[in-house]
Amino acid sequence: MSGDMTTTRDDASTVVCVLGAGSIGVAFAVVFARAGFRVRMWDVYGDALARGQREFDDKLAMLSGLSQADATNSTVRARVSWHVDLDEAVESADLVQECIPEQLALKRELFARLASITHPDTVLASSTSALKPGEIAAGCAAQERILVGHPANPPFLLPVIEVVPSAFTAQRFADRAAELYTRAGLKPIAVHREVEGFVFNRLQGALLREAYCLVRDGVASVADIDDIVRLGVGRRWSVIGPFETVDLNTRGGIESHAQKMGPAYARMGAERGQQDPWTDGLVQEVTRQRRALLALDDWDMRVRWRDEQLQRFLAPSDGA
Ligand SMILES: NC(=O)c1ccc[n+]([C@@H]2O[C@H](COP(=O)([O-])OP(=O)(O)OC[C@H]3O[C@@H](n4cnc5c(N)ncnc54)[C@H](O)[C@@H]3O)[C@@H](O)[C@H]2O)c1
Repeated sequence: MSGDMTTTRDDASTVVCVLGAGSIGVAFAVVFARAGFRVRMWDVYGDALARGQREFDDKLAMLSGLSQADATNSTVRARVSWHVDLDEAVESADLVQECIPEQLALKRELFARLASITHPDTVLASSTSALKPGEIAAGCAAQERILVGHPANPPFLLPVIEVVPSAFTAQRFADRAAELYTRAGLKPIAVHREVEGFVFNRLQGALLREAYCLVRDGVASVADIDDIVRLGVGRRWSVIGPFETVDLNTRGGIESHAQKMGPAYARMGAERGQQDPWTDGLVQEVTRQRRALLALDDWDMRVRWRDEQLQRFLAPSDGA
């Protein structure tokens, strides 16, 4: 909305440099500029910058529901400058958010250059989806400053970002990245180990692998599987996550769910060659974390809250 705090607050003292004016780079520029930061967008190609500038304007207009000429949009737009000179773009940046193509050699070359031209306090974050931060940082002079800040696409609509340090990353840089992302309106998720796919894509991948198998085995069609997620599983997950879902689905909470349903889920996993049973110790740990978030005494109230949240999806145009 025009005039909302997100777009009118100005924080000229925070400078973020975004490297690569492709889809993720532009989307990050929208997030940071709307948060009030100074944004320097760099690309190796001048025409990519020109295209990026048009996309930036389009996204801003879409988000504000207003025309590109709207005054609030002009304020946000004025926070962004566009550069082909890398030294100029990164000067005095608090955070560099790298969004260049997903090629290890390209990223390593760029980070090696960043090591020598950025301030020693600058956080160096890569948006990579599939490379590990340790692979990018290995042998780099700035390795303690390098981490992954992996966004969901597009970050201006899906406000979650995985912060993945490598073994070389100093904790203060991970903390600083989390602080800056929080101030930009994102929810940083601390990923403790640099596993392939981090957390977002591993969760997405687990569901997608099963969906492929169900189509392969003739159990359901592609359209029907999408509908099950869109109208069922996913609709619930837009309000609560998978752990809270089963915690609220079963009186007695997640521990009771694991007792009742654990064996069936173990059989389904084994059918796919996955031998990851929910051991007693694991169930206890998950239960401990859930009970710290929701006491069983508050269970009925929370179930009611969930249902109220889900009600907002009920619309006349609803359904398949
Ligand atoms: N697209 C997604 O859904 C998504 C989601 C999360 C993370 N990511 C990650 O973000 C990064 C960028 O992805 P994208 O989809 O925005 O890519 P893209 O191809 O849309 O954009 C990449 C940009 O980098 C520029 N660039 C800068 N230096 C370059 C060089 N040396 N060689 C070639 N191009 C150079 C290109 O001109 C281009 O504008 C990737 O690491 C990707 O894995 C993408």
